[in-house]
Amino acid sequence: MVSSEEVVRKDLKMIHGHPMIHTFVFNWERIEQFQCRPDDIVITTYPKSGTTWLSEIVDMVLNDGDAEKCKRDVITAKAPMLEMADHGIRISGVEQLKKNPSPRLVKTHLPIDLLPKSFWKNNSKMIYMARNAKDVAVSYYHFHLMDRLLPLPGTWEEFLEKFMAGNVAYGSWFNHVKSWWKKTEEHPILFLHYEDMKENPKQEIKKIATFLEKKLSNDIVDKIIHHTSFETMKNNPMVNFTHMPSTVMDHSKSTFMRKGIAGDWKNYFTVAQNEKFDDLYEKQMSGSSLQFRTEL
Ligand code: A3P
Repeated sequence: MVSSEEVVRKDLKMIHGHPMIHTFVFNWERIEQFQCRPDDIVITTYPKSGTTWLSEIVDMVLNDGDAEKCKRDVITAKAPMLEMADHGIRISGVEQLKKNPSPRLVKTHLPIDLLPKSFWKNNSKMIYMARNAKDVAVSYYHFHLMDRLLPLPGTWEEFLEKFMAGNVAYGSWFNHVKSWWKKTEEHPILFLHYEDMKENPKQEIKKIATFLEKKLSNDIVDKIIHHTSFETMKNNPMVNFTHMPSTVMDHSKSTFMRKGIAGDWKNYFTVAQNEKFDDLYEKQMSGSSLQFRTEL
């Protein structure tokens, strides 16, 4: 058994050029050699982009909108995070995935070149959810306050600098979204936006159903919308991460289901921070056809 000091608030560790949560890097061969199953569905995002929301929606789609069935287990067991490993505090992502029945949901935040090769060879279906960078930065800052596997964020100002430089777990938001977007040209990836899901969940859930070759009635889509609304998920202990050991997540610092809105960045960015961010954004995103909305 490891002591919590060995995993809690450690500095990030580089893996193949990408900054990663320290404890996840241990025995990285388990990721490189991971063998997918033919019908795995990969749920891939940059952190804080609505991964949990998307995972619950996909589980509801696969289970024809049966909310009771979707309460069969906690979200971390139903959609294990591939790269998660914390020296035995919890069952690792790979071990949980081995136990899960097919079709498995495989959650990951990995950049393209760290994803196990077997997924590319298998032509696995992937759903990517992207969220505008400013709201991601704010959400990631609050997540650093509560997720003790991450380093402490410092002040908001300090964290924003690190985020802009890509010195945070999983690296640069810009590189992540641009490279996954580019990959849609050659791989079956359904690319979604958090803001679209907020604005028109019916339309986005139907896209997911079509991608997964599921026929859903309007009635079922309505059930999915209700079950996966922010308010319902916030109060659902199977998905709101209150089941996590307090060694790992401290909900007294910030809740996992925090605000769930588009445009919260306006409450945090100063005018100067916003100008600096916009300058960087323009440089980083020039040449990419990927567009985001920072408010609805
Ligand atoms: P905020 O911190 O802005 O509230 P992830 O699951 O990728 O870690 O993303 C977490 C973010 O998604 C948090 O954002 C969380 O509140 C938001 N979220 C979770 N469930 C949601 C839902 N049903 N509707 C809208 N946002 C949701």
